[in-house]
Amino acid sequence: MIFTLRLKTIATMATLAAANTVLAQEAPNYSRDVAPILQAKCASCHNPEGIGPMPLLTYEQVRPFALLIKDRTSKRIMPPWHLDPTVGIQEFKNDMSLTEEQIDTIGAWADAGAPEGDRADLPVPMEIATGGAWQLEEQMGPPDLIIRSKPYDVIANGQDQWWMPDVPFDGLDTERWLRAAEFKPSYPLGKKVVHHGHAVLVPENPEQGDRRSVALARYGVGKSWEIYPEGTGMRVPTNGHIAWNLHYFPVGVGGSGDVVEVGLWFYPEGERPELETAGEAMFRVDGLNGMARGQDIVIPPHGYQVLQGTHVLDSPAIIHSYRPHMHMRGRVMTMEAIYPDGRKEVLSQVDKYNHNWQISYIYADDSKPILPKGTVLQFSSVFDNTANNPINPDPEQWVVFGRRGVDEMNHAWLGMTYINEEQYGSAIAERRARQETLRVSQ
Ligand code: HEC
Repeated sequence: MIFTLRLKTIATMATLAAANTVLAQEAPNYSRDVAPILQAKCASCHNPEGIGPMPLLTYEQVRPFALLIKDRTSKRIMPPWHLDPTVGIQEFKNDMSLTEEQIDTIGAWADAGAPEGDRADLPVPMEIATGGAWQLEEQMGPPDLIIRSKPYDVIANGQDQWWMPDVPFDGLDTERWLRAAEFKPSYPLGKKVVHHGHAVLVPENPEQGDRRSVALARYGVGKSWEIYPEGTGMRVPTNGHIAWNLHYFPVGVGGSGDVVEVGLWFYPEGERPELETAGEAMFRVDGLNGMARGQDIVIPPHGYQVLQGTHVLDSPAIIHSYRPHMHMRGRVMTMEAIYPDGRKEVLSQVDKYNHNWQISYIYADDSKPILPKGTVLQFSSVFDNTANNPINPDPEQWVVFGRRGVDEMNHAWLGMTYINEEQYGSAIAERRARQETLRVSQ
């Protein structure tokens, strides 16, 4: 109620301001009100070297897009953060969304004719990382080890391409524990054409206690790095080979010899973190229980399909991140927990899914789900094959499972750390002690 009133007041103010020079100073202006928002929430992508289609660093660059910016921000299409803000956990380490107030400010500014204001009010320009830099470098220093895929010649136009080279891995003298990893397509070509990818280490001696595969890094546009929480890491054996799985999506520019790099940051030699994480693990929403993969997906022309999948946790677990994966018809994916006592709650819901983005929603330390053994994770997906879906390439088609973007998939990647009962007990106690009011799942 209060909120609606406030919105109306701002809208009225903006209309008046446009018509009345006396009130013009009341409307938000670029230099004082809008530039700080764009700098904080847009400039990292909308700069000459970033992945955004146009730079938004100066008034001259921003002015022609004022109405488009109002449209995309008010619909919460930009910045890309497709989570439902009305349900589930809302505290994330990488939240780039705008607050209601910021959205209102941008809207009122555009409605008032996008005034520039006084340049003296502009924020101090921020430093923008160059396109080829490691995003984690500022925080973590240069990587301890860099692994590289084999060169691939990228075609300019055509169907999706898959490139799955095997590269020997012998970079470590002794077993180490991974603290962070970043997946870095080449710049500028790779950033445009690498749609998603995995770099998975297959250890040489899996029978000697090594895991069958160690997923060092997984990538999708909108998700390129992972920092495990302090005290959590992934064990990396000394040798084996890297199975690369790279999906190139032709976008009109080609190039030869494209190479993807993955940077690895380790805990100091000899240091073993308390918790071992499995990294991102796949949870299927379709075709479970050994049935043929994706056999449940059959979306009729001009129709919808809803699919649900459940997984019972056979040990307690901490979920660090949530990354739904569908293709062009996927719109909603909800992750719920059904606790052993029967209580059910929505953990997270993505309700504006967009296949162009693979965003990993990284939970804040105090908010990530800590789940007891026996919890049922329930995923529900909604596919929209009607013309209302703005990125539907052809509502006339029946849509089934497939690797191409025009076919469908239905799973979620969860950053998982499985823990034992004792670790569960202390994780819950620690959280209670830190903040009684926070979500506690038991
Ligand atoms: C993580 C990178 C990223 C961030 C952050 C980001 N954008 Fe974008 N933006 C893109 C990309 C990539 C596209 C083109 C693809 C798409 O629309 O999804 C785009 C498209 C747009 C478009 C549509 C352009 C067109 O011609 O259709 C607008 C407007 C826009 N962004 C404004 C903003 C504003 C305003 C912000 C901040 C409030 C912002 N973006 C934050 C990457 C980003």
